[in-house]
Amino acid sequence: MKKIVAITACIVLMGTGSALAAVGGGDITLKNKGGDVVFSHDAHVAGMSLACTDCHDKLYLSKSQHKAAGMKQMQKGKSCGACHDGKKAFSVKGDCAKCHKK
Ligand code: HEC
Ligand code: HEC
Ligand code: HEC
Repeated sequence: MKKIVAITACIVLMGTGSALAAVGGGDITLKNKGGDVVFSHDAHVAGMSLACTDCHDKLYLSKSQHKAAGMKQMQKGKSCGACHDGKKAFSVKGDCAKCHKK
């Protein structure tokens, strides 16, 4: 139920192309072999003033439609690597522990 509400909110926001709003998808845990990664909407949207449309829907849809990317793909600009390239944000080539927690 919570999920349906969240997705509806997301669609509404994307429809208007606006970044008003409290912070969309919340904290999302991406489980993987390198150690869990928690992606924070709060840090990215409120903290870094990114718009929903900087990530949705060209990079991400939802947890259920998650397309896993490997680190090699990220180093070529996929997923988190679209920004975490050492210019816009710290690079996926280093700082592993900033994203991966045990
Ligand atoms: C910096 C990138 C980024 C920005 C900006 C961003 N999101 Fe997300 N969003 C994500 C990621 C990553 C996921 C997880 C998708 C996945 O697992 O493939 C996600 C997932 C979601 C989900 C689905 C959650 C679920 O339980 O499936 C919603 C809803 C959402 N975001 C809404 C928003 C809204 C609304 C905004 C603007 C206020 C926003 N997002 C801004 C990266 C972002
Ligand atoms: C900007 C955040 C970020 C940084 C920095 C980062 N990773 Fe990742 N990594 C992720 C995310 C998110 C996933 C899961 C991606 C998915 O599910 O789509 C992942 C997946 C992985 C995986 C499993 C997939 C694969 O490629 O085998 C390994 C292993 C991994 N990371 C190792 C590392 C190492 C080693 C470093 C440091 C050189 C690193 N990561 C730096 C976010 C990051
Ligand atoms: C649209 C651009 C964009 C995308 C996509 C993006 N980030 Fe970020 N992220 C940023 C910026 C900008 C910063 C702040 C600059 C810095 O710390 O280098 C940041 C900072 C962070 C931080 C530090 C947060 C803090 O609280 O200080 C983490 C952790 C992080 N990102 C993880 C991720 C992960 C994991 C993904 C992929 C699921 C991701 N980011 C995708 C732009 C992005």
